[in-house]
This record gives sequence, C-alpha cells and structure tokens, in this order.
Amino acid sequence: VIVNVAATVDGKIDTFERRGAPISTDLDRQRVDRLRAESDAIMVGGHTLLAEDPRLTVRSPKLRAERLGRGEPENPAKVSVVSHDWPRSDSRFLTSGPARVVLFAPMTLDDVDRASLAARGVEVITLGQARVDLLAAFDTLVQLGMRRLLVEGGGSLNFELFELGLVDEVQIYVAPLIFGGASSPTLADGGGFVRDCALSLGRAEVESWEDGGVVLRYMVEPR
Ligand SMILES: NC(=O)c1ccc[n+]([C@@H]2O[C@H](COP(=O)([O-])OP(=O)(O)OC[C@H]3O[C@@H](n4cnc5c(N)ncnc54)[C@H](OP(=O)(O)O)[C@@H]3O)[C@@H](O)[C@H]2O)c1
Repeated sequence: VIVNVAATVDGKIDTFERRGAPISTDLDRQRVDRLRAESDAIMVGGHTLLAEDPRLTVRSPKLRAERLGRGEPENPAKVSVVSHDWPRSDSRFLTSGPARVVLFAPMTLDDVDRASLAARGVEVITLGQARVDLLAAFDTLVQLGMRRLLVEGGGSLNFELFELGLVDEVQIYVAPLIFGGASSPTLADGGGFVRDCALSLGRAEVESWEDGGVVLRYMVEPR
C-alpha cells in the first residue's frame, strides 16, 4: 500500500478552499501515472472523490498497453470509501475507463442508492455500521485480487490508514509552493497522534527535480 500526495513545502495538499488546487507538474503527473500503472487499484477518500472528481485512469497509452500485455486490465480498479454522499452518475470517477469501480459504504446505505450505483456497474460493498471497517475493506480488496494499492488521499483517509497500520510506503512530491492556512488539508489529518504514537519512517530516498520539486520516498517502519 503506497500513499502518494503532492504537497507544498508547508505540507499542505490543497488550499483552505479545498477545491483540488493544482500542485503537481507535468513531470510529477508522469511519475504518478507510472505508479498507477503498477497498481491493481487506486483508492481515494469520499471528499476527494466529490471535490476533485478524479479520473484515476492511466493516461499513457504505452503504460496501458503494457498492462494489457501483462494480462492485467487496461486500468487499475478505482476504489473509494464514502459514508453518506455518493458520486454523481456522470462523474469522471464512474465514467472514465474502462475500469472496475468498487465503492465501500457503511451498512446504513439506502437500498435505492445501492441499486442505482449497481445499475451503473459499481460494485458496492457495505461493511461496518456508521463507518466503513477499513481493515475488512482491505481484506476484501485482497480477496478481489487487488494486492498493490495506491492511495491518493485525502488527509482524512490517509490518517485512518496510517492509524490502522495499513500503509507500507509514502511518496511525496514537494512543490516549491507555500499555501499556508490552518484548515488547509495535509498529508495526514484526522485526530493526529501523540508523540509516543507517531509513525516512524525509514531512510528517505530523495530526488531533486529541475521543475523545482523534490520527490521523497519513505518506507513505513513496523510499529
Ligand atoms: N495534493 C494531493 O495529492 C491531494 C490528493 C487527494 C486529495 N487532496 C485534497 O484533500 C482534500 C480532501 O481531503 P479530506 O481529508 O477532506 O477527505 P478525504 O480523505 O478525501 O475523504 C474523507 C471522507 O471519506 C469518507 N471516509 C473516509 N473513511 C471512511 C470510513 N472509514 N467510512 C466511511 N467513510 C469514510 C468520508 O466521507 P463522507 O463522510 O463525506 O462520506 C470522509 O469524511 C481535498 O481538498 C483534496 O483536493 C489532495
């Protein structure tokens, strides 16, 4: 499980407006495209799904052809987790493809909503009461044959996954920008850890790019 974000130097992954402000450069989008092409599934949180309506497909025809050549689907599966708001039927998340779409929701999901999502080809999986049980969701993904998962935010989902010990690696494109804002989302939001419970990361692999950005790769150390 790799968590990938594009962040500013002050650690923000969006402005306080939370409308999906661009942070990546073309070079970084190519790096993310390669990460996607190497993944079985790509996961985003419900707010990212609704705020950004990401396509989550592999852009490069060459990388898609390589996936097909390896006997893999043209695009990784798209996965999201929601509690009460659903993607619109014309959303890019649902319509860009071809790609398998898996949506985790709590068991409180209305049967009408479930039926209308299923009619659009979405695999709706209900787990947990008010919140989705993410440990069970990850087990389900493994059962569905999705072993290499790329998580593309946002900060709330990332924190939940860090807290549950579900993340193996973190990749960050640090852009030469400062957004500021106490309420701007960061790599890991949620409730936060006290110091003794902080997640430790291994030695960084660092690449400094001509576009002014820096790519950091860290393995998460077992707790
Ligand atoms: N720069 C980057 O790399 C990057 C990447 C991704 C996102 N972003 C930015 O990050 C911001 C969004 O982050 P965010 O922290 O607000 O939201 P998020 O992590 O995208 O989504 C959080 C939401 O997902 C749903 N969710 C998560 N875990 C759940 C669970 N266990 N059970 C049920 N639902 C669950 C809930 O949505 P509901 O309660 O609403 O259903 C929850 O409030 C946006 O501004 C976006 O643009 C930036």
